[in-house]
Amino acid sequence: MKFAILGSGTGTNAKAILESWRAGTLGNAVPTGIFCDIEGAKILSLGAEFGVPANYISPGPFKTKFSPEREQAYVDAIRASGAEWIVLAGFMRVVKAPLLEAFPGKIINLHPSILPSFPGLDGIGQAWRYGVRYSGCTVHYVNATVDGGSIIDQAVVRREPQDTLESFEQKIHAAEHQLLPSVIRKLSLGDSL
Ligand code: GAR
Repeated sequence: MKFAILGSGTGTNAKAILESWRAGTLGNAVPTGIFCDIEGAKILSLGAEFGVPANYISPGPFKTKFSPEREQAYVDAIRASGAEWIVLAGFMRVVKAPLLEAFPGKIINLHPSILPSFPGLDGIGQAWRYGVRYSGCTVHYVNATVDGGSIIDQAVVRREPQDTLESFEQKIHAAEHQLLPSVIRKLSLGDSL
């Protein structure tokens, strides 16, 4: 299972995936490249660290979506890398027809809440402000509805009375770093999820 990683920021989830791959615990999954929509983002430095091509590709002039021709440029670059699957690991841009049609049923996304609660931006902050006692993270297939595709797996985190937003965030990120590599591994092995 060859897959591309798309990310926009620090890339701690991309790093967890690549560490699992390097440790031989990612099943039959092999990363073909890291693709980033933010110039100079930290995630790009993982390329050299793990020996995987890492490239910034301009997404066009918009903040949260691609221009259609730039989304096609992503399709072309991801295909050229040999990837059949796409893993959105902290990718903060809405994916539309060009990518969805080029990789039907083969794009997965990580979201930092228990969907369908708290979709969209700042899932952790939304859950914190709402005051839920449990939140967590979700890996789901991507479709045309933001954070609305069918759920593959989830991990739950409890908000303890002594938690701060910062400690709550850290617990959710730690859960993400386990969940996403575990889903990729299972998908690559055809294990039931
Ligand atoms: C993660 O918490 C991920 O769930 C979230 O961005 C963070 C990226 O962190 N993604 C979304 O909110 C997508 N809507 P990272 O760059 O350190 O992996």
